Amino acid sequence: MPWIQLRLSANEDTAEKYSNMLSACGAQAVTFIDAKDTPIYEPLPGDEVTYWANTVVMGLYDASHDMDKVLNYLRSIHPDKQDMQYKLEQLEDKDWEREWMDNFHPMKFGNRLWVCPSWRDIPEPDAVNVMLDPGLAFGTGTHPTTALCLTWLDGIDLEGKTVVDFGCGSGILSLAALKLGAKKVIGIDIDPQALQASKANAERNDVADRLELYLPKDQPEFKADVVVANILAGPLRELAPTIMEYVGDKGLLALSGVLEEQAETLQEIYGQWCDMQPVTVQEEWVRLNGQRK
Ligand SMILES: C[S@@+](CC[C@H](N)C(=O)[O-])C[C@H]1O[C@@H](n2cnc3c(N)ncnc32)[C@H](O)[C@@H]1O
Repeated sequence: MPWIQLRLSANEDTAEKYSNMLSACGAQAVTFIDAKDTPIYEPLPGDEVTYWANTVVMGLYDASHDMDKVLNYLRSIHPDKQDMQYKLEQLEDKDWEREWMDNFHPMKFGNRLWVCPSWRDIPEPDAVNVMLDPGLAFGTGTHPTTALCLTWLDGIDLEGKTVVDFGCGSGILSLAALKLGAKKVIGIDIDPQALQASKANAERNDVADRLELYLPKDQPEFKADVVVANILAGPLRELAPTIMEYVGDKGLLALSGVLEEQAETLQEIYGQWCDMQPVTVQEEWVRLNGQRK
């Protein structure tokens, strides 16, 4: 089916109102885009949704929809009336899921590690290959916060080690650790869909017998050789004692999901327990590394 897309400029005060207006005018889907490339990280379940200061609200309409009627209605209730900023675009009829899958290609991290979409051919069959279908969970390797952790895991000796993956999402880091030689990984996530995706991906990679998955309320006591946590700076701050409970004697720690300007505070907090190294930067994100003193 052909589609028309209506883009309407908004800000954090008007974004939700305009989204409701577009839905009321028959939009089949409404999406928000950041007009200024300001990162807003995934909200926790129950958190209030944050909108960008400069947002474009996009409504998707069946091309046969009467767009003049929609625009007239929007102008009648929009504060700028005839000066309302908008753009109408024709969209090619595409299979959107297919489109996303077509754009997700095998990616290499460090020297030996590849993450391959499960529906694609493996470029280097003799390398360490993680076959992945992220499903509804975060973690394909395309995001710098994940890439920073994957590269780190590739660079350390994981042979026979135990690992905790705090905020496991799709399970990408757990699987990488297992394929790189870890004997056991504990994955923890607040989101049940993430645990489902991690389990399915572990089965896909024949490592399900070495991966244990838990919601935070069920998380076991455990001392690991390696702990990796790619969550937000806020949770990393609040959960510092919980995360450190998992780091065994001389254990290694990697923290990701942190913006450059948030790193110093976290270095200080985790510095209470660990010898912290200088951060590693990728785009605006950093990875913190430490070793329990
Ligand atoms: C940025 S994703 C990281 C996913 C994957 N580990 C990766 O590196 O791509 C963060 C994950 O942490 C989970 N998460 C957020 N807060 C958490 C918390 N307090 N406890 C456990 N998991 C949490 C989210 O549900 C999400 O799956």
